[in-house]
Amino acid sequence: MGKYVITGGSRLSGEITVSGAKNAVLPVLAALPLVSSAIIYNVPFLSDVANTIEILEDIGVKISTEGNIIRSERGELRPVIDYSKSCKMRSSVLFLGSLLSACGEVEIAYPGGCALGDRPIDIHIWAMERLGAEIRAENDRLYCTTAGLKGAEICIPIQSVGVTENIILAAVLAEGVTVIKNAAREPEICDLCNFLNKCGADISGHGTVNIRIKGVKSLHFCSFAIMSDRIEAATYMIMAAATGGELFIRNVNIDHIRVISAMLRKTGCIIKEYDKTIYIEAPDTLYSLPYISTAPYPYFPTDVQPQTMALMSIACGHSLIKENIFSGRYKQAIELNKMGADIEMIDSRTFSIRGVKRLKGTEVSAWDLRGGAALITAALAAEGTTVINNREFVERGYEAPVSKIRNTGGNISVL
Ligand code: EPU
Repeated sequence: MGKYVITGGSRLSGEITVSGAKNAVLPVLAALPLVSSAIIYNVPFLSDVANTIEILEDIGVKISTEGNIIRSERGELRPVIDYSKSCKMRSSVLFLGSLLSACGEVEIAYPGGCALGDRPIDIHIWAMERLGAEIRAENDRLYCTTAGLKGAEICIPIQSVGVTENIILAAVLAEGVTVIKNAAREPEICDLCNFLNKCGADISGHGTVNIRIKGVKSLHFCSFAIMSDRIEAATYMIMAAATGGELFIRNVNIDHIRVISAMLRKTGCIIKEYDKTIYIEAPDTLYSLPYISTAPYPYFPTDVQPQTMALMSIACGHSLIKENIFSGRYKQAIELNKMGADIEMIDSRTFSIRGVKRLKGTEVSAWDLRGGAALITAALAAEGTTVINNREFVERGYEAPVSKIRNTGGNISVL
């Protein structure tokens, strides 16, 4: 596993252009077996994207890439997902819906992904069964078949992003109408629906808790640009705040990050919003926020919780963070404490943070993607040099982080 070496103390300043969203491109790629051909623009080149491309090629979707563009051409589909590739990524579970829909069968392993505590797929399986799939689990693999998916009304017990996407992928070619109740409302789900509608699907209500999908016979070619990554934008805003910096962040959808802008304004940052650009200027003293609690969109995103924890660890005052989505998204707290932070874990989801004046560079390890981004944030703000192990976690979800940080004055290199 590789390392980042970061010497803290430089203010980030200048501009960063945000890439296409990881959590939007992965479901769109999972939809490609349903579509005769497609051209996808603004694709971020990440290890999870590379892994998904390998899955697509294995199952019979021909992919060619050029810069940030992917072209796909569906061939004869073979609905078996390689065990090691499913295990690498949580989003491999989305091939359940798309291949059941495209082929009427799929064999897939339990998905992997960042270790954020229990991440069961029980609701995915239940939802596929509601649409008419038969699913048998044997030796860590799922064998799924259907005599034909049929539309149904499905009220999801948890507002799950992946379950909402999987139902959409399965229902898009199913017979009749599917209604999803208590759907998740994340912008990445809207991006998937916009892509599918551009290919001829009939989906409405995305972005609300009620989504309606009327099955169509087939989906045709389209070209589509992936939305910009709101979590990446938020991460660089927090890095600017943590280093006393000043950044213009380009290619941002301002509406997607309102909750982050509001949080940073409360810490004392100046935030200015332009068309697709956000400007952030950090104050001399950052103030803590008394309470931050994660929840599904449009509320505070779990994917920005670890970076916010790093920021609160150097803000003036006391804050409490409550993680409501993932029971295991806490490992960055242990690593931040090695750098001199004062974070008490009340339980695996609740953190009491007393801001310290300065963190100190040392050797720490990333244990998941956003936890890794939190450690980079802390290291950029810290005194001295920090070595962060396991940089591969960060590269699952951030495109070219080293050049983006270096170009804005951060002292970061890789080993
Ligand atoms: N859940 C179940 N059973 C299921 C499915 C989900 O109990 O069958 C639970 C999960 O364990 C979790 C909650 O439902 O406690 C919500 O999880 P959700 O299904 O919404 O998450 P996901 O679809 O697996 C996506 C993103 C995550 C992001 C979450 C929440 C992708 C590829 N991943 O995961 O992104 O944190 O939504 O917004 O879209 C990241 O980018 O770092 C990341 C982890």
